[in-house]
Amino acid sequence: MTLGPWPKRVLVTGGAGFIGSHLCERLLEAGSRVLVFDNLLTGRMENVAHLLGHPRFSFEHYDVTNYLFVSGELDAILHFASPASPADFERLPIQILKVGSLGTHKALGLAKAKRARLLIASTSECYGDPEVNPQPESYWGNVNPIGIRGVYDEAKRFAEAMTMAYHRHHGVDVRIVRIFNTFGPRMQLRDGRAIPNFFYQAIRGEPITVYGDGSQTRSFCYVDDLVDGILRLLRCGHVGPVNIGNPNEMSLLEMAKKIIEITGSRSEIVYRPLPPDDPKVRRPDITLARRVLDGWEPKVSVSAGLDRTRDYFVEALAREAKSSA
Ligand SMILES: NC(=O)c1ccc[n+]([C@@H]2O[C@H](COP(=O)([O-])OP(=O)(O)OC[C@H]3O[C@@H](n4cnc5c(N)ncnc54)[C@H](O)[C@@H]3O)[C@@H](O)[C@H]2O)c1
Repeated sequence: MTLGPWPKRVLVTGGAGFIGSHLCERLLEAGSRVLVFDNLLTGRMENVAHLLGHPRFSFEHYDVTNYLFVSGELDAILHFASPASPADFERLPIQILKVGSLGTHKALGLAKAKRARLLIASTSECYGDPEVNPQPESYWGNVNPIGIRGVYDEAKRFAEAMTMAYHRHHGVDVRIVRIFNTFGPRMQLRDGRAIPNFFYQAIRGEPITVYGDGSQTRSFCYVDDLVDGILRLLRCGHVGPVNIGNPNEMSLLEMAKKIIEITGSRSEIVYRPLPPDDPKVRRPDITLARRVLDGWEPKVSVSAGLDRTRDYFVEALAREAKSSA
């Protein structure tokens, strides 16, 4: 599928977060004007500090569950606002449900008013604890709606349903990306997800926490490959959900050992009980992405991505230690 032009002016909700800030950078490089709405619930100004002086970039501290207004033309909206770490599922359950439902509703309303294309960040969590592996987009998932993870999984499933309803009922031009585990620089140091957790603990020489026996699998995608895929999806003609991730599946125990090795850490692994509804396997089927995203393919190996992420964590933790000394 050939790709359309880059958008002239884009709103990125959640643009001060991990993935959002990388998206903003890429869009600016491509010549777009970029507007960010972010309430800094889990994001940081530090992630976009280097963009603040850019003539085509602007930032507004704003909660997108409220009425959204943008003056002037807008041709695309990337709705990325939402806490995403399992640690936040217990800490911020209502905020997660609100931004997935009300926030998506407001973003759709703005897209309709501006005749803008809306791309929402959905997730592999839509598949829950999957009974098929790898997961194709046609799999409907195995989600516990009232479990601790349900606040995130169901918010995203609702967001997908609302997005498709606006498409069918109001003709809004929509795209849905189902993002699988992604890692890279600008993840929060105390994010709580496996890779940042392992780096944080390994570099500080603390015990590495593995949940269960660590045999549960994930497939980790480096952020540059994800962002490349998302921005291709924005410019392609495919409307339904598209998985983007790296099918390179590995166990969490393997990942913990790899991180101990590349940080030269002496940390030992400690095992903690598995949280409820934790998925046992997770691997994207990216056949559709390969077909519709004009030759997209994850290019960065997990090892190369981990090296870059290690450098970021080492530097960020050193900076933090210096500033608190
Ligand atoms: N990182 C992953 O592996 C992954 C996987 C699947 C889906 N996603 C999705 O991608 C998106 C970005 O995730 P991330 O990893 O960058 O997380 P993040 O926490 O780094 O970024 C989310 C951003 O949204 C902002 N935000 C939250 N609620 C808001 C609100 N009500 N109004 C305005 N801003 C708000 C936060 O302050 C933050 O800057 C999320 O929608 C997430 O569900 C991420």
